[in-house]
Order: sequence, then structure tokens, then C-alpha cells
Amino acid sequence: MIRLETVSPHQQLVITPPASGLSLQGKVRIPGDKSISHRALMLGAIAEGETIIEGLLLGEDPRSTAACFAAMGANISELNETEVRVQGVGLGNLQEPDNVLDAGNSGTTMRLMMGLLASSPDRFFAVTGDGSLRSRPMSRVVNPLKEMGAQIWGKKGNTLAPLAIQGQQLKGIHYHSPIASAQVKSCVLLAGLLAEGQTTVTEPAFSRDHSERMLRAFGANLTIDPETHSVTLDPYPTLRGQKVVVPGDISSAAFWMVAAAIVPDSDLTIENVGINPTRTGIIEAMQMMGADMTLDNAREVAGEPVADLRVQYSPLKGCTIGGEIIPRLIDEIPILAVAACFAAGTTIIKDAEELRVKESDRLAVMAAELTKMGANIIEHPDGLEIIGGASLNGAEMDSYTDHRIAMSLAIAALNAKDETRIHRAEAASISYPTFVETLTNVCQFE
Ligand code: S3P
Repeated sequence: MIRLETVSPHQQLVITPPASGLSLQGKVRIPGDKSISHRALMLGAIAEGETIIEGLLLGEDPRSTAACFAAMGANISELNETEVRVQGVGLGNLQEPDNVLDAGNSGTTMRLMMGLLASSPDRFFAVTGDGSLRSRPMSRVVNPLKEMGAQIWGKKGNTLAPLAIQGQQLKGIHYHSPIASAQVKSCVLLAGLLAEGQTTVTEPAFSRDHSERMLRAFGANLTIDPETHSVTLDPYPTLRGQKVVVPGDISSAAFWMVAAAIVPDSDLTIENVGINPTRTGIIEAMQMMGADMTLDNAREVAGEPVADLRVQYSPLKGCTIGGEIIPRLIDEIPILAVAACFAAGTTIIKDAEELRVKESDRLAVMAAELTKMGANIIEHPDGLEIIGGASLNGAEMDSYTDHRIAMSLAIAALNAKDETRIHRAEAASISYPTFVETLTNVCQFE
């Protein structure tokens, strides 16, 4: 039994698996990719002419991006249920907004947008976000932008939002990022669009490459060096509006992959999943754990690889996850921790300290909340050690207003004894507004 209870202003998700058991069956169509949705809105807003985005994620995070760019002159309208039109202002023509730009809960909105604001001479911008975003580190983008000549001020020595930006003529740099972060890489590349000279970003490992793919599709010239994980951008491209087709978000698919893998007798097909190799770490990790997964109908849609994914229940075993795979499954670690609870043996997740500065401290929160259910977890500074095989009990838990925590705990609850209650479950709508509806549809009660 699955129900939402409103305890104003929040919602609680109550999940009570029947004693007779449940399984997940059928087909799931997941919402559009969040990372690609942000980029389609942003590039559409700064390009010349019209961009039509099919399959845009209509979650709260992309809505924050749309509102910020509308405040700077882009005309963004929902044409119908599946298509959004963006009338761009043209590169360099973002208008000075009347008011503070609010990125809400979205790190991608704030960090990518900063590159475009810092490189808009003679305009002033103030940016803020919700309580979670105002506590997330911004020096990772402020530092390279300042190296390019940006003028930025912010709370706590220019490291936290609210931030104020006086746009400048920037110069291209070669930035050696200490972390593999697509947000940092994309911020610097977007600033490089209007900088003097080329801009290069080198990362310790490749992070997701949606910005590179979409910048090219809109007309920019980029060179990628796979040996050194470097991307070089030529400045002043002519960016022209495009048709963008947004694939389903593999990070949203991950909840169903794990749910079908851990709940006995399940058989789910997840349709139209984006399988860009910089994002498929979760598929590799689940296969390492022994999950029964098949990819069908692999195809390329508007420059991004897509496939349908069938997942059937099978017993899982623990494994070790760390190193270069981490940036390729960074957002899936909370749900992977749930899979590990039901795997035989120990799972070690390491090199994942970045999780501490996401929408919540995802290592601390997952360890605390799954422990309430009876899981056996040791928290390390850079990861988790999960001793699988304990049976979980329903518990009263909290999302910490983090969308991926809310959904991960809901999947854990499907395999627990008795009732689970997840407080502040409305957080799911940041990236997956129809999560509870789909959960209700795929659960078959025996
Ligand atoms: C994102 C990049 C990742 C990811 C975030 C979305 C993006 O962050 O965690 O949810 O769209 O560029 P980092 O690049 O900072 O790791």
C-alpha cells in the first residue's frame, strides 16, 4: 500500500508492503534527463532564434533555470505536454535582470549560469537559492572564473551564495580542475564562449559530457583530448537555436533498476533511458553485483545514445566501487547503497567524498536513515561500507529535502517489513514529479 499524506506544508510518503509480498512489473517511461534539460534551456536562451525542446524534464530544478533565463530576456513557453519553445537572445545579449536570480535547489542552475553572467560586461547580477544551495560550495566555480578576470562577491569570503557578479570581458585560461565535476567544467566552458582566446578545462577523470555535445550541436567548436581528459573551446561561435530531444534520465531510471533487482519476482522494462557512457556507471555497478539486466533497442537520438533496459530480480552480491567510475554514477550512490543492503557480502563505496556537498550530505544521511531500518553500515570520510543481508524493517525517516534521498528510501521500503514513513517526500519533484504515481503503477500486490 502506497499513499501520500499531507502534513502542511510537507508530504509524507507511507509505504506498507503487504505480508503476502509485492513485485514490480510492466513498463516504465522515465522523465527527461535533468542535466540535458538545464543545458537545452540555457543554450536555447543564449542562441539566436528558436530552440524546440522535446521531452524536457518539467521538474522544479529545470523550472528554476527557465525562470532565471526568462528574467534575462529569453522567451520560454510550453507549446504542449511534450514540447517547450525557447526564443533566444543571442550570445552576449542576456539582459540585466530586475531582481535577484533564484536557482532554488539547483546547483547546476547556479554554477553553469555563473559562467554566462560573469562574461556579460556592463551588467550586474545577484544570485541566490534555497537553504541547501546556499550552503553548497561555490568557490569551485568562483576561483576559475576569477582567474579569467571575473568580479564576484559572496557570503563567507566569496564561497557561498548569495553571490553578486559584475560582468566583465574575460580571458580564456587553461583550468586544471582538482575535481571531476561537469558543473565546474561547464561553467568555465560557458564563460569561455565570450572570452578572449581559447579556454581549456582538464579534469582528473571525465565527468558527464552533455555540455560538450550540446555546445557542438548549437555550433561551437570544441576539441576533446581523451588522454588528458581535456576540453578546449574556441570563443565567439555563432550559436543557433536547435531541436533538442531529451532522453530519459538514467539517474531516475536507477531507482527502478534497483527496485526490480532487489524485489523478488520483479520484471520491469525502463524505456528510453539515456546511456551516454559518462553516465552508465550505475549499469556497470549493478552488473558487477550480479543484476540481471539487458539493453534493447539501442539507438541514437539527437546526439545522445538511448536504449530500453529490462531488469529482472536476481540475487545480488557485494562489490567495491571507487576511482574513475565514481563521477559516472555520482548521483546514483544513494540508491546503490540501498541495493548493497540486499546484496550478499560487503559493498565498499570509496572516493565519493563529493557526496558530502550535494543537496544533502548523502553519505551521512543514507548511513543514518538506512541504519534506522536495521541496515549494517559504516560511514567513512569518502564513502560507505555496507554489510548486506540484514533484513530491513520499516521506519520513520526524512528526506532532508533531498530528492534522491526521498526516492532511495522509498525503494528500500518496498523490501522492508512493516510500514515506512518518509517525511518531506515532496522533494522528489525536484527531478521526478511523477515518482509516486509510477511507484503505485508498477507495484503489483500479491
Ligand atoms: C550535474 C553534475 C553533477 C551531478 C549533478 C548534475 C550536471 O555534479 O551531481 O546532479 O548537470 O552537470 P558535479 O558535476 O558537481 O559532480
